[in-house]
Amino acid sequence: MRILTLTNDQVIALADMRGCVDELNSSFRLLGEGQVESPIRTRFRMSDVRNILLMPSLVREKKDTMSLKMVTIYPDLGPAVPSIQAVVLLVDGKDGQLKCIMGGTSLTGLRTGAVSGLSCRYLARKDSRKLAMIGAGGQGFYQVSGVASQLELSEVSIFDLDGGRQKRLIERCEKELHLKASAADTVQSATARADVVVTATTSKTPVLDAAHVAPGTHVVAIGAYTPETRELGSDLVRKASVYVDSMEAAMEEAGDILIPIKEGRITQESIRGEMAGLVSGKVKGRANDSEVTIFKAVGLSFEDNAVGWMVYDRAIKSGVGGWTEL
Ligand SMILES: NC(=O)c1ccc[n+]([C@@H]2O[C@H](COP(=O)([O-])OP(=O)(O)OC[C@H]3O[C@@H](n4cnc5c(N)ncnc54)[C@H](O)[C@@H]3O)[C@@H](O)[C@H]2O)c1
Repeated sequence: MRILTLTNDQVIALADMRGCVDELNSSFRLLGEGQVESPIRTRFRMSDVRNILLMPSLVREKKDTMSLKMVTIYPDLGPAVPSIQAVVLLVDGKDGQLKCIMGGTSLTGLRTGAVSGLSCRYLARKDSRKLAMIGAGGQGFYQVSGVASQLELSEVSIFDLDGGRQKRLIERCEKELHLKASAADTVQSATARADVVVTATTSKTPVLDAAHVAPGTHVVAIGAYTPETRELGSDLVRKASVYVDSMEAAMEEAGDILIPIKEGRITQESIRGEMAGLVSGKVKGRANDSEVTIFKAVGLSFEDNAVGWMVYDRAIKSGVGGWTEL
């Protein structure tokens, strides 16, 4: 059996952020039509902060594409070790053959940035120009790219507790995305005059609350993915129109939603809808220019499937990658 292997760098070289966003737009539509199986992931808790996740998925439609991602999340080993390391297997559901093994760390960044970008397509004000990026770790650049792929950003203000990471992200945004990028000393100064705010931190407690967010802002929260952790304060979640990547996953994993529900500040019924509904038009997006919208994403396994197979098809067409026999 010959299997294509793609490194993390090859995955990045083969993908473009707009293509990833469009691919996810189509796949969320299929999810809404019942063509996608994307079960809640299996989580092995290795410690308070260390987790290993197994994420299988199947996209039926005409494709029968299957994927399995294994992710290790060890955020406490210092800057030399990436918090997230992942590998993705692609299997053709028509004949059961393993087709590809690809670096899943860059794929995770791409698809997570693309989901955030997709939320901007449906929920951000069209005239949004300034992004506040809270968190400048492994996800930071992909998040800025995802938002920049959908909005005509003119500037990004970046806050992180780690000055070195903040500086590196500023340099990349300027060099690769041609954005005016600056360092903020506080969340408050990063979010001043921001039209879109993204949180992508490993914080367990709120980094963003109602006082940081002006009317009309779109907030994307992707950092927290367990019921006990959150990046958003309850006051913010209560005052905003809240959308999620998946209601089932949010009710299982999203502390940003589950903690305010437990506190009695919101109910599940206060959530406006899911991404699949936004994409199909069944769920209404932003109502006016002064509404605060929140998109909360915990990450879904079919997103790896959608972007992974897009990358695979491009690799086959362009002859990129190595081949191995198992
Ligand atoms: N929703 C999804 O689909 C999805 C996908 C990938 C990663 N994630 C999650 O996103 C988070 C970030 O991932 P990463 O790969 O960038 O991690 P990372 O460890 O590379 O970076 C996290 C950054 O957050 C910063 N930080 C921590 N607390 C902070 C605070 N209070 N204020 C400002 N900055 C703070 C750290 O200094 C660090 O630079 C992780 O929790 C990860 O599990 C979610």
